[in-house]
Amino acid sequence: MASLKKNSSQYHNVSIFLHWLIGLGIIFMFILGWYMEEIPKKAPKSLSFDLFNLGIYSWEVAKEMSPRSFYFTLHKSVGVSLFILIIYRIFWRLTHKPPALLNTMKPWEKRVATAAHHGLYFLMFATPLAGIIMSISSKYGISWFGIELIGGIDNKPARELFLEFHKIFGLLILLILFFHIAGAIKHSFIDKDGTLRRMWFHK
Ligand code: HEM
Repeated sequence: MASLKKNSSQYHNVSIFLHWLIGLGIIFMFILGWYMEEIPKKAPKSLSFDLFNLGIYSWEVAKEMSPRSFYFTLHKSVGVSLFILIIYRIFWRLTHKPPALLNTMKPWEKRVATAAHHGLYFLMFATPLAGIIMSISSKYGISWFGIELIGGIDNKPARELFLEFHKIFGLLILLILFFHIAGAIKHSFIDKDGTLRRMWFHK
C-alpha cells in the first residue's frame, strides 16, 4: 500500500470544502429537478409546503403559490447560489494548482481522470448557465429566495432550446460522475492508494 505523504499530495482544505459542498449541491439539484417535474400543473395554492412531503420541515412563503411553482422557484434559487459557488471554484482552481495525480495510476488512467475533471468543470458551469438562460427565456424569469432577480422575456424557441441543453448537460454530468465515483472507489478500496484521503479535510 502506497503511503500518502501529508500536504505534498493532498488537496487544499478550500478545494476539499468546495468539492463536497458543490458535489452534494448538484446531487440535490438532480433530485429536486426530477421531483418537481412530476408535480401536476393544476394544484391548489398554499402558503406552506412540507419539503419533499417528508414531514420533517415545513417551508412558509410570503405569497400563495402552487406546489409546482414553489419547487421550481426553489430549484432556481439553489441553482443560482450553486452557480456563484461554481464560478468561485473555477477561479480557485485556476489560481491554485492541485496536487499531481498519484503515480500508482497508469498513464491512460491519468489521461481519463484529467479529461473527466475538465469535463466536470465545463458541465458544472454549463448546466446551471443553460438553466438560467432557459428561465430568462420563459415568461417567469428568476427570483432568488423571494427576491426578484430578472424578469422573463417569454421566447418559446429559446426556452425549448436551452431546456434541451440543460437536460443533455445534466445527463453528461451523471455519466461522468458515475466513472468519477467508480474510479475513486476502485483506487481507494481495491488499490488502497489513498486517493479518497487526498480529498478529505486535514490540519
Ligand atoms: C448544477 C445545477 C443544476 C442541475 C444539476 C439541474 C438539474 C435539473 C434537472 C435534473 C431538471 C429536470 C429535467 C428533466 O426534465 O429531465 C431540471 C429542470 C429545470 N431546471 Fe435545473 N438544474 C441546475 C441548475 C438550474 C438553474 C441555475 C436554473 C435556473 C435559474 C434551473 C432551472 C430549471 C428549470 C426552469 C427546469 C424545468 C424545465 C421545464 O420543465 O420547464 N436549473 N434541472
